[in-house]
Amino acid sequence: MKESFFDQIINDDCLKFMAKLPDNSVDMTFADPPFNLNKKYNGYKDNREFQAYLDWCEQWICEMVRITKPTGSIFVHNIPKWLTNYATILNDVAKFKHWIAWDASTAPMGKSLQPSHYGILYYAKDLELNKFYEIRYSHKRCRKCGYLQKDYGGKKASLHPFGPLISDVWTDIHRIKHNKYRDEHPCQLPVHLLERLILMSTDVNDVVLDPFIGTGTTAIAAKRLGRKFIGIDIDKMYVDITKNKLSHEKPNSKIGDAWVSFYLKNIVTIRDIDWEIIKNHFIIPDNVKEIDFKKAYYKSKTIP
Ligand SMILES: C[S@@+](CC[C@H](N)C(=O)[O-])C[C@H]1O[C@@H](n2cnc3c(N)ncnc32)[C@H](O)[C@@H]1O
Repeated sequence: MKESFFDQIINDDCLKFMAKLPDNSVDMTFADPPFNLNKKYNGYKDNREFQAYLDWCEQWICEMVRITKPTGSIFVHNIPKWLTNYATILNDVAKFKHWIAWDASTAPMGKSLQPSHYGILYYAKDLELNKFYEIRYSHKRCRKCGYLQKDYGGKKASLHPFGPLISDVWTDIHRIKHNKYRDEHPCQLPVHLLERLILMSTDVNDVVLDPFIGTGTTAIAAKRLGRKFIGIDIDKMYVDITKNKLSHEKPNSKIGDAWVSFYLKNIVTIRDIDWEIIKNHFIIPDNVKEIDFKKAYYKSKTIP
């Protein structure tokens, strides 16, 4: 892989650009494609015929798998309707690991159940070689006093001080609803969603590629976590927004030597193996003598 592609946001058709990349050259690929729901993008028309859409998806899915390394992971985000079709494509060319249900309400769709999750298909190129790190998310705590909110049935003492290991249902990351946090893009994802996927499946300096970068979520997450990124979008306006946002980002999402994911200055995701480093960086409040993780201590002195 040419190093000149690293840390670039490319204004091109993703199929055209991915064709230039060698087989087995990227550590993680993530795609959040247009959902074919007639969304109002700046340039792209989001309303193909059913089969035309799926045929197109098959092309970029197969390209993503081709360029992913044998140790690498492939993630595709969409609504369940399309993911069921994507899975039949992916089952032929990669190995299924998980269907991650990201709990996030969507618009009602007429006479149907209210859709309340997006899915993220998680495939490995090779299940034996696949790189995977166990991930913990933080316990819900009272904002004022720091105490755990959930009643763990008398088992609080034996809990992990930071939080539980994640399952395949993610309820603690919310969609960006407030316009203040949103760019001029109809379906921007939260950065800490991507940070969780990146921490789970890559190491520092690994390469993360997103063929539909939009306004840069995956590239920003990768840069904050010290990974290399390649982002592609067909729309120049989104590419310009992404480049501008990236110019303000630094690879500094760390506590001590451990890469972690923050949201609004709280730690939301850590790797299980990093807890030994991270725990030494928590604040001990004035009124206690030693660290008591049942109470607060989720604010690090070194938050960037
Ligand atoms: C669902 S959005 C991605 C949003 C992104 N995850 C974010 O958080 O900002 C899909 C993007 O794909 C882009 N796109 C559509 N067709 C494309 C193609 N053939 N090649 C590259 N990008 C394309 C659109 O311009 C749009 O920005």
